[in-house]
Amino acid sequence: MEHRTLGTSGLRVSPICLGTMTFGEPVNEADSIRLVHAALDMGINFVDTANVYEGYRRVLGSAGGWAEEIVGKALKDRRDQAVLATKVCAPLGPGDQDRGLGALHMHREVDASLRRLQTDVIDLYIIHWPDRMTPRESTLQTMDQIMRAGKVRHFGVSNHSAWQLCEFVWMSKQHGWPRVVSSQIPFSLLHRHFQHDLRFCEEYNIGVTPYQTLQSGLLTGKYKRGQDAPTGSRAAEKPAWIGERDDALYDKLEAFENLAGEIGVPPGQYALAWALTQPAMASLIVGVKRVEQIEDAIAATAVRIPADHMEKIDAIFEQPWRQMDPIRPA
Ligand SMILES: NC(=O)c1ccc[n+]([C@@H]2O[C@H](COP(=O)([O-])OP(=O)(O)OC[C@H]3O[C@@H](n4cnc5c(N)ncnc54)[C@H](OP(=O)(O)O)[C@@H]3O)[C@@H](O)[C@H]2O)c1
Repeated sequence: MEHRTLGTSGLRVSPICLGTMTFGEPVNEADSIRLVHAALDMGINFVDTANVYEGYRRVLGSAGGWAEEIVGKALKDRRDQAVLATKVCAPLGPGDQDRGLGALHMHREVDASLRRLQTDVIDLYIIHWPDRMTPRESTLQTMDQIMRAGKVRHFGVSNHSAWQLCEFVWMSKQHGWPRVVSSQIPFSLLHRHFQHDLRFCEEYNIGVTPYQTLQSGLLTGKYKRGQDAPTGSRAAEKPAWIGERDDALYDKLEAFENLAGEIGVPPGQYALAWALTQPAMASLIVGVKRVEQIEDAIAATAVRIPADHMEKIDAIFEQPWRQMDPIRPA
């Protein structure tokens, strides 16, 4: 796997990043630790977690922390082998200070994450969501303090659109605060809403680390029209995390699976390989339950999508704002 540079950070990261949202449940602690070690052994050097992750147990406002604790145990003796990312902002309780991007919560949470992760420093601290209650200047100032204290090396954002990234870039420049290095967005063939933002990230050298590029497994070919979800799959275990599967969706998936079949590649690998062709892509965050799924994701980095497939892909999975984007390249 050829590693890529993450934005302006200078960090070199594997094009596949290990997601940990399902650590704890359904992937128990021992298996999660095995997955982290297998990923490192296979050349993945990037691990993504969040203060809020606790697997399927997660409900809005529950305390989180479980996945970070597991990642901390997994990396205890291998910390130097991983670029470690975690996040802050999501609600962790009913209290006023239990969420968001205010200074009190961020200072408290970075210390809690460091403790759970059993580390002195977080390589990439990610603002999980925008927080309408806190001005961006205030958040950046807090991030600056946290970084000056040596607790965080770089910061990134998640679930922000290009105009919000733009604000971060110019405010940092104006005040001499650290610059955003990465953007974590939902992005897959079935979810291309951020497609045009990639150009902004390319222009400003912000590394994109998309999540759900397999769309929770829908793009792996495991779900078939008219059939029950396979036992042990996300759709069988946690249907709320995958959504409705109707005929319109299967029309797309079947056409897509045929396209992948044309070059003899499993659909999941094809979906990841396509994402890696997109502008500013640094590393795809992939969720896995088994070692074979890590192997599949790594194999995708060697897949090349034929040039004449790009139009066929766009015909199956429409791009956003196709009619109204005045700057879309011809
Ligand atoms: N920033 C954010 O707001 C945000 C939000 C969501 C996620 N994330 C990050 O992104 C990561 C990935 O998210 P995700 O797990 O929801 O999405 P995903 O990577 O699209 O889906 C992962 C799921 O797909 C299935 N799968 C993976 N490889 C497969 C293969 N080769 N064959 C068949 N099935 C396969 C597995 O589910 P089953 O085997 O159970 O079917 C796996 O758990 C998370 O762990 C987290 O780190 C970030």
